[in-house]
Amino acid sequence: MSDRIYTLSGYLYEYQKSVTQPEEFWARIADSFHWRKRWSKVLKWNFDEPNVQWFIGGKLNITENIFERHLFTIGDRPAIIWEANDPNEAGRTLTYKELFYEVNRFANALKSRGIGKGDKVIIYMPMVPEAAIAMLACARIGAIHSVVFAGFSSSALADRVNDCEAKAILTSDGNFRGSKKIAVKAVVDEALEKSSVETVIVYERTKQEVTMKEGRDFWWHEVIASESEQCPAEEMDSEDMLFILYTSGSTGKPKGVVHTTGGYMVYSQYSFDNVFQYSEGDVYWCTADVGWITGHSYIVYGPLLAGATTLMFEGVPTFPDAGRFWAVVEKHKVNVFYTAPTAIRALQAYGTEPIQKYDLSSLKVLGSVGEPINEEAWHWYHTHIGKNKCPIVDTWWQTETGGIMVSPIAGITPTKPAYATLPLPGVQLCIVDPEGNELTGNSVEGNLCIKFPWPSMIRTTYGDHERCKQTYFSTYKGMYFTGDGVKRDHDGYYRILGRVDDVINVSGHRMGTAEVENAINEHPKVIESAVVGYPHEVKGQGIYAYVIADLTNRTEDNLINEIKEMVSKIIGPIAKPDKIQLVPGLPKTRSGKIMRRILRKVAEGSLDNMGDTSTLLDPDVVTKIIEGKK
Ligand code: PRX
Repeated sequence: MSDRIYTLSGYLYEYQKSVTQPEEFWARIADSFHWRKRWSKVLKWNFDEPNVQWFIGGKLNITENIFERHLFTIGDRPAIIWEANDPNEAGRTLTYKELFYEVNRFANALKSRGIGKGDKVIIYMPMVPEAAIAMLACARIGAIHSVVFAGFSSSALADRVNDCEAKAILTSDGNFRGSKKIAVKAVVDEALEKSSVETVIVYERTKQEVTMKEGRDFWWHEVIASESEQCPAEEMDSEDMLFILYTSGSTGKPKGVVHTTGGYMVYSQYSFDNVFQYSEGDVYWCTADVGWITGHSYIVYGPLLAGATTLMFEGVPTFPDAGRFWAVVEKHKVNVFYTAPTAIRALQAYGTEPIQKYDLSSLKVLGSVGEPINEEAWHWYHTHIGKNKCPIVDTWWQTETGGIMVSPIAGITPTKPAYATLPLPGVQLCIVDPEGNELTGNSVEGNLCIKFPWPSMIRTTYGDHERCKQTYFSTYKGMYFTGDGVKRDHDGYYRILGRVDDVINVSGHRMGTAEVENAINEHPKVIESAVVGYPHEVKGQGIYAYVIADLTNRTEDNLINEIKEMVSKIIGPIAKPDKIQLVPGLPKTRSGKIMRRILRKVAEGSLDNMGDTSTLLDPDVVTKIIEGKK
C-alpha cells in the first residue's frame, strides 16, 4: 500500500507534508479510492460558519470502494467473522463476496419498501452481521443511517427517530447479552407510540415473541427472500450525508453528528491502515458496539474499506466467564485487538488466572479507545495480554472527528504509558489557554483545539447548524474545540486529561450531565438536581447526582431507587447514577449558577480545600452537603 507509513522518519515526513501541502497530501491518499468522477477541488473551508467540504464535486459510493474496488482480488477472503454471545453457538463467517450479496439483497429490500436516497433509517440492532449489512445497504442506496445503541431506552430512541425524521427502523426481536435475553422489538414498539415511521424490519435473533403491526412491520428473512443479490450503487456526492450519529453534549438534548461520504471514507481507511499497521490475512477485532462511532469507523467502514477481516462479537467480556475475550482471541487467532480501558480494568479485577488458559501468541497490536487509560491498566494490558511484545496504540478521537486523531503508529511511534503520543498526518493540534491564546512549545497544558480541517470531521449537527457552530467553533475563534484538556510534555507527546466541559465519560460512553439531570427531574418528587462525574475504579468516571427532593411518603432509599429507575427508563441503564445524595440545597452563586467545581470536589472526596466559596449565595449549604455525604 503506497499510503502506508513504515518508519518513524516516514511518519515525520508524511506529517510535515500533510501540514505544508494538505491538499496535495490528501489528494494523493484519495486517489487510491474509486471515484466515479474525480473531485474538482480538494478542500474548501471556513471555521467561522463553519463550512467544510472535501473532495468537492467528487462522485462515488462508499460500498463500491469496499466491494467492487477489490472484489476480484479479495472476494473469497473473510470480511466478517461473527462470534455469538454463547460460545456454544456456531459463529458465522462472511467472505467479501458473501457480504456483498447480502448487502445487495437487503439494499433491494429497502428499495422495495420505498426507501431511497436521502431517507433516514434508524438501526437499533444487536451485534450481528446484519447490523453491518444494514449500514452498508443504506450506504449502497444513498439512504442515511443513524445507528442507535440497542441499550438506549424507548424514549431515547423515540427522540432520535423524531429528530432525524426517520422513515424506517431496522431492528431485531431480541438481543442476547451474557446470560440475559433482552427485548428489543418491544422497545421499538414503545418508542413508536411517541413517534412514527413507515417501516420496521425485524431480524429474527432470539425467537422471542413479538408483536408485528400489519403493514408496518416485516421480518428481515421474508423481505430479502425474493430479492436479487445485485444492486447497483447509487451515485453520491462526496459531501452527501453518509450517516448521523447521536452523541451527548453539555446541553440536555443529544445532537446528531453528521458525517459525509468522501472525506469519511478516505480518513477511516487511511487511519485504520496506519494506526493498526494491518497486514493482509490478519484478524482484527474491535470490541466496541456498532452503536458508537468506534463501531462505525473501526468495525465496519475502516476495516472493510481496507479489505481486512473484522471480527464482530455479540457478547460481553465476562460471559460465560472473565476469560471470554481471551478465548475468542485464541479461537480466531486474533492479531489486532482494540478495546476500551474500562474493559481492561474490569478484567484486571479477575487477576491473571482467566488469561493463563489461553494462547494469545497471535496478538501483534493492542489498542485502547474511549477514555484516558491509566498507567496501571496500560501496564497490565501490556504485560499480561501483550506479553511485553505488542505495541499499544492509545487512540484519542471523538464522534465528531470521525476517525483517530492522536495515536501512536503501531510498532513505529515509541509509546509512553497513558500518552496518545502524536497526531496523525493531517491533524493540526493546538493547545490554548482559557482566553484562547495558543500555547506553543513543549511542557504546556491547556484545552485541546484543532486548527485545520481533516477529511472526516463533523460537518453539522443535524437540523441545527447553529448548535454545531456554538458547540465546536465559537469557544475559540477559528478553531475546532474538542472539549478535552491536554498536556504536551517535554518530548512533544500528548496526554489527554479528560473533558473540561459538562460531559462525563462513563465506561467510555459519553454522558451529558444536563441530560442526566433532565431525566432525574422527571421524577415528581424531585425539585432540583445537579450531576457531576467522579473517579470510578472500573468505569473511569461514575455519575454522582445531588438531588433536592420532597421526601413525603417516601424513605430515602425508596426515592433513590425510584430515581435510578427513572433515569434508566428515560435514557438507558448506562446513564443510571452510581451515587445519589439527597441534599437540602445546591451551592449556587448569587446569579443562580451552580458551582459544579465544589460538587465535583465533594464527589471525589477531596473535602479539605473547597477553594473560594465567598461568591456563594449560601456558603452553609456546602457544609451540609459534606456532612450528608455517605
Ligand atoms: O474525552 C475524550 C474521550 O472520549 C471523548 C469522545 O467520546 P466519544 O465521542 O463517545 O468517542 C469515543 C470513541 C472515539 C473524548 O472527547 N476519549 C476518547 N479516546 C480517548 C479519550 N480520552 C483519552 N484517551 C483516549 N484515547
